[in-house]
Amino acid sequence: MMLYRLLFAAVFRRLDPERAHRLGFGAIRAAAAVPGGARALRSYCGPRDPALFVKALGLDFPGPFGLAAGFDKNAVGIDGLAALGFAFVEVGTVTARPQPGNPPPRLFRLPRDRALVNRMGFNNDGAQAVAARLTRWRERQRRRGLTPGAGSPIVGINLGKTKAAAETEAIADYETSARLLAPLADYLVVNVSSPNTPGLRDLQAVSVLRPLLLAVREAADRAAGRHVPLLVKIAPDLADQDIDAVADLAAEIGLDGIVATNTTIRRDGLVTAPERVEALGPGGLSGPVLRDRALDVLRRLRVRVGDELAIIGVGGITTAEDAAERLAAGATLLQGYTGFIYEGPFWARRIHRELSRRSRPAPGAGSRELDGPGRRKENVSR
Ligand SMILES: Cc1cc2nc3c(=O)[nH]c(=O)nc-3n(C[C@H](O)[C@H](O)[C@H](O)COP(=O)(O)O)c2cc1C
Repeated sequence: MMLYRLLFAAVFRRLDPERAHRLGFGAIRAAAAVPGGARALRSYCGPRDPALFVKALGLDFPGPFGLAAGFDKNAVGIDGLAALGFAFVEVGTVTARPQPGNPPPRLFRLPRDRALVNRMGFNNDGAQAVAARLTRWRERQRRRGLTPGAGSPIVGINLGKTKAAAETEAIADYETSARLLAPLADYLVVNVSSPNTPGLRDLQAVSVLRPLLLAVREAADRAAGRHVPLLVKIAPDLADQDIDAVADLAAEIGLDGIVATNTTIRRDGLVTAPERVEALGPGGLSGPVLRDRALDVLRRLRVRVGDELAIIGVGGITTAEDAAERLAAGATLLQGYTGFIYEGPFWARRIHRELSRRSRPAPGAGSRELDGPGRRKENVSR
């Protein structure tokens, strides 16, 4: 950790954030590509405490903490990321058509807040190219006799709308991605909450969301020839009654889960000077500043949907304490992104180790801090 802090201050912080991302991710991929590299990393970093196992979405997760969407948009580094100790990796956002995203600069650090602002705009290779890459990856895993959760990382795929697709084409656009990618996904997420595609968040309105989710589920299950767990990812900026409406819809149509939350368009609660924040322009804010709202949204959802649905808690999780709090509030699984940038490559390992330590009763005490509504087996085994 100390070493990474020094490296961050001396090197990464001086680099353009997107360039630093490419360099850091390149190093992770290179380490995993060295013969025996991924295995060595996995044995050092991987979660292996049975107390941390989570059965959810019909899958066996080796731990609760995964990597959130946006880091590996094109599914190019799953092995390296999983080897660093993430219990699952959500790739994407992938859109039906390839697109370059917004013009750079589009990713900014707020180091005093340990936060990020991004307006990447779903830069990605498109569903066809990502499907081809994942097909080759799955084939390699199969040849090695690895299955999801048993040697092969669990991979979620996050789907978004192509920017050039009109609102009236939105459903068809998501369906195209679902058809191509569902056969390769352990679970799918319909992302209607990124702030960087004009009009996208309007799809969270239940009248639009219902036909969208039903159409994606139909296309996904038909293409995969099995039920592919389907979740929806929501924004922290929804009003409480809109959160309730999404929760009710999810329960009513038998969705498998909800990912809460994406980045926020709000800018309050930062210590960075407002002029500097404003000068960065629009985008989604992530990191610790998001924690309280993301936790509130999770609590609200859990009360509303009961024990049935899986909820993936994401937004501002930095420490194992944050993670434990989110689990106690009803999260089935957890994800993070921004902490990876500020805390370094062994962040997921640390979170799992610390959760593991907390799950062991202190000598003389009987309590298990990890217990929470989201970790009772009956509500996570859908
Ligand atoms: C640079 C960046 C790119 C992101 N791209 C995506 C994306 O493509 N799709 C998505 O659903 N979320 C995306 N996110 C949001 C994260 O998945 C996560 O929901 C959010 O950052 C809150 O978690 P955090 O505070 O741990 O970063 C992105 C976040 C960042 C910082």
